[in-house]
Amino acid sequence: MPTPSTITLPAPADFHVHVRQGAMSELVTPHVAQGGMRTAYVMPNLVPPLTRTDDVLAYQRTLEALAPDVEWLMTLYLHPEVTPDEIRKAAKAGVRGVKSYPRGVTTNSASGIEDYGVYYPVFKAMEEEGMVLNLHGEVPSDDEKNISVLNAEKHFLGHLRQLAADFPALRIVLEHATTAEAVDCVLSLGPNVACTITAHHLWLTIDTVAPQPHHFCKPLAKEPRDRRALQAAVSSGSPKFFLGSDSAPHPTASKMPSVTGGELHACAAGCYTSPYLLPLVATLLEGFGALDRLQGFVSDHGRKFYNIPAAEKAEVTLRRPATPFRVPATLAGFGTEVVPFWAGRELAWEIV
Ligand code: DOR
Ligand code: ZN
Repeated sequence: MPTPSTITLPAPADFHVHVRQGAMSELVTPHVAQGGMRTAYVMPNLVPPLTRTDDVLAYQRTLEALAPDVEWLMTLYLHPEVTPDEIRKAAKAGVRGVKSYPRGVTTNSASGIEDYGVYYPVFKAMEEEGMVLNLHGEVPSDDEKNISVLNAEKHFLGHLRQLAADFPALRIVLEHATTAEAVDCVLSLGPNVACTITAHHLWLTIDTVAPQPHHFCKPLAKEPRDRRALQAAVSSGSPKFFLGSDSAPHPTASKMPSVTGGELHACAAGCYTSPYLLPLVATLLEGFGALDRLQGFVSDHGRKFYNIPAAEKAEVTLRRPATPFRVPATLAGFGTEVVPFWAGRELAWEIV
């Protein structure tokens, strides 16, 4: 089949994005629409994390003011403050989901959870209210058990299976899958379980992460076989898999190894894809022969799972640029700056 020269998509949606707070939020929030997204499902790992409905709603108003053209869908951060009563309040206020971060595994997860069992009454209330449970699917590292960032996702899958079995009517999303085992696990579970895939995990492997702090994100990109499995999940057209970019900006300085007061600092985890997300995803899918799955992946599957219909007249059209667009080395404003994923590389598509 000849490849098209333009592609029109109904209201693309990013079902997992970090738009931060303060100066960084001012810089990056408008980039979501610039990257072709009409709907954004927003992560709650702010400082402090969003554990109260009222704070989530205040944050939503801030985002609406910064980028009124995007439909902002909001989440709570799973935490002891999130009680069944808080769930009912949140659901009534239009909050869509609750994000679970295992303690300590990624950015701002110090107040994350250590035991899923204690939250069963919360999950029950979510199931009743039709809220979605969003899982960061890694367990904390543990030397004794030989658990590390390399196998943390595989070790998490038992929790996913257990939650899916115990709450068959609760919609659960395994976020940013990175392994062949995660893809197989999601496929083996019922229609209440879906999975987001990022743009960067469709391209990176551990070999390109290891020497490059701007490619460091959680979960880590894994082996070529894992990337192949993610690409195959997209290529299959299964409605269980859809775009959640996990676009996660960090100021350039916090991505760079640095020494302050004689102490070596760890690099912040996250790849930043929002400003070019749709052209990037189209370029990547075309690269592994799945351009015909673009609409399902960016527009249809996630909306169906979340029951968020595409707004009318919200189509986005892509075309082949006369000269390929080169991703800039840095994006700056409001006193901060961030290095985008694929800086210096060319995109094969642009938004009309
Ligand atoms: O790489 C990541 N960055 N993974 C996450 O789970 C969180 C995110 C962030 O907030 O920076
Ligand atoms: Zn995330």
